[in-house]
Amino acid sequence: MCGIFGIVTTNEQRLGPILTEAGYRLSYRGYDSVGIATIHADGNIDLRKDAGKVSQVAEKYNFNEMVGTRGILQLRWATFGEPSLVNSQPHLDSEGLMVGAHNGNVVNNVELRKQFMAEGMTVRSTNDGESCVHAVERYIRKGLSILEAIRHAYDDLEGDYAFVIGLAKDDKIYAFKKGSGLVVGIGNDFACISSDLPSILPLTRNIIFMNDGEIVELSAKSARLFRVIDGKPIDRPIEEVEDTMEAAQKGGFAHFMLKEINEQPKVAEELIHLWENSTDVEQVLAAMQQARSIYFIGCGTSYNACVAGTVYFNRLAGRSVFPVAAPQFTAQYNNAIGPEDVGIFVSQSGETKDVLNAVEIARKRGMRIFSLVNVVGSTLTKLSENWLPLTCGYEISVPATKTFTNQLVGFLYLAYRMGNIPTSPLLQIPQWMNEAIQSSQDQIPHILPHIKDWNDLYCLGYGLTYPIALEGALKLKEITYAHCEGMLSTEFKHGPLAAVTKGYPVIFTTTTADIPVIISGINEVTCRGGCAIAIGPKDERLDTNANYVISISQPTPEIASILSVIPLQLLSYHMSLSRGYDPDFPRNLSKTLTVD
Ligand code: M6R
Repeated sequence: MCGIFGIVTTNEQRLGPILTEAGYRLSYRGYDSVGIATIHADGNIDLRKDAGKVSQVAEKYNFNEMVGTRGILQLRWATFGEPSLVNSQPHLDSEGLMVGAHNGNVVNNVELRKQFMAEGMTVRSTNDGESCVHAVERYIRKGLSILEAIRHAYDDLEGDYAFVIGLAKDDKIYAFKKGSGLVVGIGNDFACISSDLPSILPLTRNIIFMNDGEIVELSAKSARLFRVIDGKPIDRPIEEVEDTMEAAQKGGFAHFMLKEINEQPKVAEELIHLWENSTDVEQVLAAMQQARSIYFIGCGTSYNACVAGTVYFNRLAGRSVFPVAAPQFTAQYNNAIGPEDVGIFVSQSGETKDVLNAVEIARKRGMRIFSLVNVVGSTLTKLSENWLPLTCGYEISVPATKTFTNQLVGFLYLAYRMGNIPTSPLLQIPQWMNEAIQSSQDQIPHILPHIKDWNDLYCLGYGLTYPIALEGALKLKEITYAHCEGMLSTEFKHGPLAAVTKGYPVIFTTTTADIPVIISGINEVTCRGGCAIAIGPKDERLDTNANYVISISQPTPEIASILSVIPLQLLSYHMSLSRGYDPDFPRNLSKTLTVD
């Protein structure tokens, strides 16, 4: 993804802390490398950058002490050029007279680099961000003004990206947008620009949203916009963003939950891409391979993901893992663990107190602590020997959706690697997720009338889909306020079956291999007048036995299990709406639970 942030201030001051903070806020966008350039009032450029996460590079290069009147930060999610110091951004031009950084991809980077070298420029890296700087330099060398040079560079640079640049002998910074997000913030004595709005909101709520094909010239007191096509100024008023960052991020969807469900294919793709080249993944895998015992520890949705992870590890890597609800960790294991064991702590927020309490116990016993976390820079990341990012960006909606599926994708990825299985099938997950969203949208209108008024229902799974049933039931409970119990389908006949009356809804999730056992469960419900809704493969046995079916692709049993949570998320969402509730902010709940 990559992220950029730039700032111009009236007086020279310590910009390092401001830029580093912005880096933390943007770090969900990439952390292969990070860099800051500050430009002093006298035009000196201080450039510090390296491969690594914000916290590591900031400490190593003492970002905190960096001063200037202008500053640029970049976080990189590597595409062009390996993650390394030389490929880190920002980049200088040939003579060190300007500095710039981009996010996105310049697709003709390789050809451009050859051209720049042939034209006598100093090209230091293979990174496409550097090509953006040289593309401007090319026209500055020809005597054009900075604005004219940017207009020409825009045409030369193919792809989707946003770019920010500052000249040493100037008092402004400039940016242009071509496909990637770019937002301007105006403060009392500064102006700033960023890849996303939330990273600006802590500084100012006075915002200008940029469109593709626009250039902005930022001084400490103003932001002037120009059209790339003809250089004409654009008159766009500053908007005061009244709402919290949530409103700025709904992206056209009615609710964050719906947006986040629809983001699942994209964030899954990003996770696989990032983990594929990650040395952190190697370290976590090595620790797990050497471990005497492995524990997956989390709460709520994250705990359900831990249960799924243990099934993947058993099936694909032949490795047993203990899934634990974090508050039970002490009761069940504290006298059994030691330095030979590995705990993988799973948390969207990285701040859940129940999880941090378990970490504390594990630390005291010398256990090795690793984590899967969505919020970069959270407490859990700091307490972990190493951690792997869930790469979901902000998850605003209280019901976890995209972080759950990426927890599953992450566990599945690790299980494939531990089992020495090629990970290439995982690359198709986004496409199958899209199909699952579509097939859910087609079927849910037929199913909803039969469940929406029930205040009591069950969600059952078996084997691979048992944790999916737990998660589906949690989603239904959380946002419809109906009681929904998730359980192993075969346990239903041992007691809960007594609840079934005419029309009583029971949702079943299954993969192909488990259809026979699920069919038994379905018939135990339907023969008593209950309503059986099946989520599983397109299969005649399900069609003939269940009242309603949502069909899910079955590329592999494990991937199918991940896909089968999507209909449950969407069913919960629509049932919540049908009851007049706000699925994003269900009563009594909080996204991050920092209390016992
Ligand atoms: O931030 P965490 O993943 O540690 O949060 C744990 C639970 O509070 C959380 O998963 C909760 O169950 C979900 N918001 C439910 O959708």
